[in-house]
Amino acid sequence: MKYRAALITMSDKGSQGLREDTAGDAVVKILEENGWDVEYRTLIPDDFQQIKEELIKCADEMKITLAVTCGGTGFSLRDVTPEATLAVVDREVRGIPEAMRAESMKITPMGMLSRAAAGLRKQTLIINLPGSRKAASECLEAVIKPIKHGVEVLLGEAGDCAALHLAEGEKE
Ligand code: MTE
Repeated sequence: MKYRAALITMSDKGSQGLREDTAGDAVVKILEENGWDVEYRTLIPDDFQQIKEELIKCADEMKITLAVTCGGTGFSLRDVTPEATLAVVDREVRGIPEAMRAESMKITPMGMLSRAAAGLRKQTLIINLPGSRKAASECLEAVIKPIKHGVEVLLGEAGDCAALHLAEGEKE
C-alpha cells in the first residue's frame, strides 16, 4: 500500500506568521521515519469551520490515508480541533486517543489535559495531536506503529489478523 499522510497545524499565532511550526516539523519527521509520505501540509487558525474544511479536503478530494492535526486540543476557548474532527468523521476511533493519553500519563500528568479525538471519514483516518513539539511527538510515537495495520484493514489491504497475532508471538 501507499502510505499517504497530511498534516494540518492549528495555531492562531502560527497562521499570522508570528510563530514557527516546530511541532509540525517534528510530526513530519516521525511520519517519514515510519514510512509515511507527507503529501500536504498547512497551517491554519483555530477556526472550527476552517478545520472542518481542511479535514474534508484531505479525506474527500485528496483521499489521504492519514490526516494528522496538531494543536487546539486543550482547554482554551479557541481550542476546537476535537469538536471539528468529530463533526466530520463517520466513525470515532476512541482507542487511539486513549492510547496516547495512557502513554502520556507515564511521562507527565499534564497528558490528561489533551482532549484529542480520532476517527474515520470514508477511507481516511484522522488523528488529533496536542500542539507543543514535545507533546505532539510523544503522542504520535505512542500510536504510529499499530495504526498501519488499522489503515490496511480500512483500505481492504490487510492480511489475516490471526497471522499478525501469531507473528507477535501469541499462542494458537
Ligand atoms: N501529552 C504529552 N505526551 N506530553 C505533554 O507534555 N502536554 C499537555 C497535553 N498533552 C503534554 C501532553 C498539555 S500541557 C496540554 S495543555 C494539552 O496537551 C493540550 O495541548 P494543545 O492545546 O496544545 O493541543
